[in-house]
Order: sequence, then structure tokens, then C-alpha cells
Amino acid sequence: MIRINEHYLKLQASYLFSDIARRVSSFQEANPDREVIRLGIGDVTRALPQACIDAFHRAVDEMADEAKFRGYGPEQGYQFLREAIAKNDFQARGAEVAADEIFVSDGAKCDTGNIQELFATDIRVAIPDPVYPVYLDTNVMAGRTGSFVDGRYQGILYLDSVKENNYVPDIPKEKIDLIYLCFPNNPTGSTITREQLQSWVDYARDAKALILFDAAYEAFIRDDSLPRSIYEIQGAREVAIEFRSLSKNAGFTGTRCAYTVVPKECMAYDSQGGKHAVHALWNRRHCTKFNGVSYPVQKAAEAVYSEEGKRQTRELVDYYMRNAALITRAVDELGFHYVGGENSPYVWIGSDRDSWEFFDQLLSEAGVVCTPGAGFGKCGQGYIRLSAFNSHANVERAMERIRRSLG
Ligand code: MLT
Repeated sequence: MIRINEHYLKLQASYLFSDIARRVSSFQEANPDREVIRLGIGDVTRALPQACIDAFHRAVDEMADEAKFRGYGPEQGYQFLREAIAKNDFQARGAEVAADEIFVSDGAKCDTGNIQELFATDIRVAIPDPVYPVYLDTNVMAGRTGSFVDGRYQGILYLDSVKENNYVPDIPKEKIDLIYLCFPNNPTGSTITREQLQSWVDYARDAKALILFDAAYEAFIRDDSLPRSIYEIQGAREVAIEFRSLSKNAGFTGTRCAYTVVPKECMAYDSQGGKHAVHALWNRRHCTKFNGVSYPVQKAAEAVYSEEGKRQTRELVDYYMRNAALITRAVDELGFHYVGGENSPYVWIGSDRDSWEFFDQLLSEAGVVCTPGAGFGKCGQGYIRLSAFNSHANVERAMERIRRSLG
């Protein structure tokens, strides 16, 4: 008899963004004349930078030419892209990362979801609340948690990220083995200072723990004093893996390209206390389960690091950040408590109502889709998240409608 992985039965009925998409579709079916503006899922709306489009076209032409055609590429990514990443995203900022420590992939969602496979099922895991649901759900699937009781999975240490700690979790008192951090944060848009990140790295070194640092939104940082990479922090190479994505800065949500950095010094331990390089383990997994990102996509990604590509990417990020400013101005005028929007495309808005009721009100009265904070965890109850990924015109109209509905 074929049996299932029963840990899946502990999961909530559906993935947050699928649930929202379903609610929005039924609203649209019931109200075909209402135009809905989507500020929910963080999906970009602007076209790819021209430098990427040109590189993409050239690479497709190469694939059409037998003399230049390429079949399977290196699973870890082509050297041209790994070198461009190491040089521009890290070395240029004084962070020591070598090209062979970069693993190119088709998404930070997959990488942050898959990485936990490398670690034992009985480790202690700390996950922020609120959180991007992938970190939590993949640990549930792997059997690292008990049941879902009163809005939380047993066995997980939740790191509350609330108004009182400025949405940056406090260092736990107990020893934890695996820690997920994301800054600029999804969903709150909060940021972490160098000193705070140094404390986390020091904690991880002391506990022989590992930090999984999701930096998918680093391009939105405006404040130069904030760290963009965990490798700007002393000692991080021994205890941190970093995840990056080209989705939000260069518009690759549909094109798919991201990468994970696993420094050679980064160690994990077997049951006898023997040390193992995480780099070798991830490389083994990657080669076994992944066949690389397509050549044209990697050429398009390389173009992000050309001079025009950098300028065009900056323009894209600036465009969305102007939307973030429109959102923060409106919620400020309406008198809501909020965080984010300054160094992040997300604005996290607090209220005294239930998150899903707030979501329903904005959808039915204003025709605006947000993300209910409760979908990101217990600490998200009472909040909603607005995303800056849409056109100026749509964000302006959405804010006007929200003013009318809530003002
Ligand atoms: C979000 O809206 O939180 C993100 O778009 C989700 C993702 O990047 O997978």
C-alpha cells in the first residue's frame, strides 16, 4: 500500500498566496465590472531591463546555431555568471565571496525551501514570526515540527518580530541549531543594523549554529549604513548561507534566476561531532537534483551586471521605491502605524482589526488586493502588507481608493 508523508497533513490547507489568488478570483467572478488592483504578492510588473532582453536574444540565437549550441550546462551555473555575481554583489562591497561559492538556481523560494534537506530532522529550528511561509512549511514537510496548535507548530522556536523590538527578533536565550533571518524583511519591510547582525553571527558561532540569511530584497536598501550582505559581518563566512534573487531587482519573477552563497568555511556537524563542509553537501544535492538554469537566462542575468544593466536595474528599483513612498504617505495620512517602505518594497500596516477582515474590506470596498498579515504567522494578526510592485498609476489609484474607503 502506497503511504503518504504524514507530515504534509500538518500543513495549513493551502499556500498563502494560492489562497489569496482564489479569494480574488471568486470576488472577480461575483463582481465582473469591478477593476481590482493587486498590491498583494510581490510580483513585479515592469519589463526586463533592455540589457537583459538584448543578451537573452543573442543567447537564443546562439542556441539556434549548431556551432554555438549548448546542451547541459554546469549545475552550479556558468562561470561567467558566477564571476559577475562574486565581483559585483560582494567583492565590490568588501565582502569576501568567491565565484565557486555561488550556486546559481531558478529561485530563492526553491533554495530556501530545499536547503533544510541537508540537516538532521531533530535539530532545533528558529523561525521569525511573521515569516515568508516557505521556511516554515518546508520544515513541517520534513518532519521537524509537531502539530499546529493555537496558530503555531510545536517544536519550532518562533522569533517574534513585533513593534516592541522594531520588527527585528531578539537573540534566543537557548541554543538553536538553524536560524532563518530575512532582511530587508519579507513581510514587514524592516531592516537590521550591522551591530544587530553581528550579534546574530556571534551567537551562531558560539552555538555552532547556522544562519540562513535571505537577502532577496537587498537592492531596495537606501540607507548606506545597513548591511546588504551577511558577509559584510565579521565571522559570517563560518556560520551563514545567503540567498539572493534577481526576481525583484531585475524583474526575473517569470524568467527565473537566483543564487545561493555557501562559503567554504561554513561547517555543520555529524552525530559524533565531526565537521563537514556545507558547501560539499549542497554541491552534492544540487548536482543530483538540479540541472542548471538555462543558458539564455544566465546570459540575461549576466547582463544585469553590465554598466547599462546596472543603470537599468537601479531605475527599476527606484521606480518601485517611488511607489513605496506613495503607499507610506497615504497610510501615514490615514494615521496607521506602519513599518517598511524606506528600504523595502513592502509596507507592513498595523490596525486594530482582524487581518483577513481588513483584507476583505480593502478588496470589497476599494478593489485593492493586499496580503493579510495573519497569513505570515501569529504575530502578523492585525496587520496587512502592501507591495510596491505595480505601476505608479495603479498605486496612486489604489491609495486614492483606500483613502476613500478608510479615511
Ligand atoms: C511575496 O509576495 O512574499 C513574494 O513574492 C513571494 C515570493 O517571492 O515567492
